[in-house]
Amino acid sequence: MSESREGGAVDGGASFASLLEEERRFAPPADLAANANVTAEAYEQATADRLGFWAEQARRLTWASEPTETLDWSNPPFAKWFADGKLNVAYNCVDRHVEAGNGDRVAIHFEGEPGDRRAITYAELKDEVSRAANALTELGVQSGDRVAVYLPMIPEAVISMLACARIGAAHSVVFGGFSADAIAKRIEDADAKVVITSDGGYRRGKPSALKPAVDEALTRVSVDKVLVVQRTGQDVAWTEGRDVWWHDVVAKQSAEHTPQAFDAEHPLFILYTSGTTGKPKGILHTSGGYLTQASYTHHAVFDLKPETDVYWCTADIGWVTGHSYITYGPLSNGATQVIYEGTPDTPHQGRFWEIVQKYGVTILYTAPTAIRTFMKWGDDIPAKFDLSSLRVLGSVGEPINPEAWVWYRKNIGADKCPIVDTWWQTETGAIMISPLPGVTETKPGSAQRALPGISATVVDDEAHEVPNGGGGYLVLTEPWPSMLRTIWGDDQRFIDTYWSRFEGKYFAGDGAKKDDDGDIWLLGRVDDVMLVSGHNISTTEVESALVSHPAVAEAAVVGAADETTGQAIVAFVILRGTANADDEKLVADLRGHVGSVLGAIAKPKRVLPVAELPKTRSGKIMRRLLRDVAEKRAVGDVTTLADSSVMDLIQTKLPAAP
Ligand code: WT7
Repeated sequence: MSESREGGAVDGGASFASLLEEERRFAPPADLAANANVTAEAYEQATADRLGFWAEQARRLTWASEPTETLDWSNPPFAKWFADGKLNVAYNCVDRHVEAGNGDRVAIHFEGEPGDRRAITYAELKDEVSRAANALTELGVQSGDRVAVYLPMIPEAVISMLACARIGAAHSVVFGGFSADAIAKRIEDADAKVVITSDGGYRRGKPSALKPAVDEALTRVSVDKVLVVQRTGQDVAWTEGRDVWWHDVVAKQSAEHTPQAFDAEHPLFILYTSGTTGKPKGILHTSGGYLTQASYTHHAVFDLKPETDVYWCTADIGWVTGHSYITYGPLSNGATQVIYEGTPDTPHQGRFWEIVQKYGVTILYTAPTAIRTFMKWGDDIPAKFDLSSLRVLGSVGEPINPEAWVWYRKNIGADKCPIVDTWWQTETGAIMISPLPGVTETKPGSAQRALPGISATVVDDEAHEVPNGGGGYLVLTEPWPSMLRTIWGDDQRFIDTYWSRFEGKYFAGDGAKKDDDGDIWLLGRVDDVMLVSGHNISTTEVESALVSHPAVAEAAVVGAADETTGQAIVAFVILRGTANADDEKLVADLRGHVGSVLGAIAKPKRVLPVAELPKTRSGKIMRRLLRDVAEKRAVGDVTTLADSSVMDLIQTKLPAAP
């Protein structure tokens, strides 16, 4: 954890009003509640018998050999779930739906950025996955091996993951925007045997190459084979003997492939999470428990009705959201889903809404960063499209500011769709804290309550659970089926990072508060908490206060070293539409506005209007870089920035320090 804040718990809000003052409430729509997949009873059932509850959810899956054990926690924190069960994950995501007579159902509506379309039924997906599995076997991949996947958002990304799962090889998906260096480190750490990539993908209206980064990585580390999908047709360098085309090797394979059953604890995938410093952590997920929770949560949180819903998660396959809520959750549930290759503003800023309209999307799952961008682009853009098919909206990745939540509900959800703000992590594998759309009276900005079968709470520095109204650290107090099993190759780091801060509890690294009803409000990473004149103030709360001002679309707040107050709050804001960045009165207004919402202590010392904010490729604001700017230091490592020119832009726009 971060050592940077002494006594680092987040204040209980005693000294100033806060997010907990948010009083808007939204009841579930009556028809949704009446037909919901999961009702309030699930909480009672899971409380009465947590392991029995999960054993029942495991029966959502088709096992080659049914588990008789649920949890083995005899060697904490190393869990085994359903350890004597055997299953094939790909069979569960594909074959069984075909066997059940749903082979003609569309599994994937693919929409390429240039507008090309492909509909893939479950029967076709079964053939494709089988061919790819046969091809990987021919290339020498065996059960227990690792395969790196570096692809754009095309169906072959999902097919590759499932083909690996089918033959018992763990995939390690590397986000298509990452550099050669990141690929090399991940190949090396996991000792991958094969890389699956493509010539390129379409991004912002043009082909963007992928294979050169793999070629460069492979000058430093080696693999046996590189399997290359042709997506854009652009020129590629070719290493004979190592590189093979997907359309040569996969297309000629038989569409018959008998899935073998693997142990429930057989590795399914490794996914690297950057952490704030040091070597990337290879988060290891295994098969039976992971799939149980991915499947159950997708069914429960999105209320998925596979016969009628059209589901769309806008995440990239390179993030855990793409793993659990594009590949494994939806496909294990037999969903029909949209996969979109490109960016939301290509060729126009209404592209997402055009897709919702075109496919009749009913469930949309996206990130606060996207929602705030849509707010900035203006209400008139979604208003041009027919979004009436939507019935459930989801959010993930960061705390969602109440104002962005309300905007999402009103402008996208016709003021009727429930919003599920889902808290989880790469490490948790699946959703942990979230409203249930047919049960929960929602509160803008709060993920609210641990799902049935999940135990989460907020503790103070001494590991004592805080009372309602109190704040501190989010912890998970019982093991859960889709928990990470370890950090690949580094059990000690697994123990140190997650299980050492509070004895016997999983430390998530996030600050949180409980409101008077005991509902949980996430406050951002504890590393980002500010200490101003002895008060802990969360960046999330100040940012939400700024975003609640009509002139502000987005805000990022940092604590910069200050001689008198320890840290001083510096806010970087993106203004909406017509607001003028040079307007000194507006800046004064914004400071005053935060003061009136949160109290004088939370008033930013400086408010700096900027055109862009530095974000990771998954859309999280990199406050560390803004802290460098605010403290007038050379800006640190920018390699994980989505757009590295943003920092230059911010620095040139910066007014002289007062
Ligand atoms: C971190 C995990 C979970 C998939 C995508 C991110 C933050 C995530 C929420 C939310 C507040 C959230 C947390 C968490 N986070 N969802 N609904 N409310 N914060 O996965 O990259 O592993 O990041 O994202 O800080 O610890 P990840």
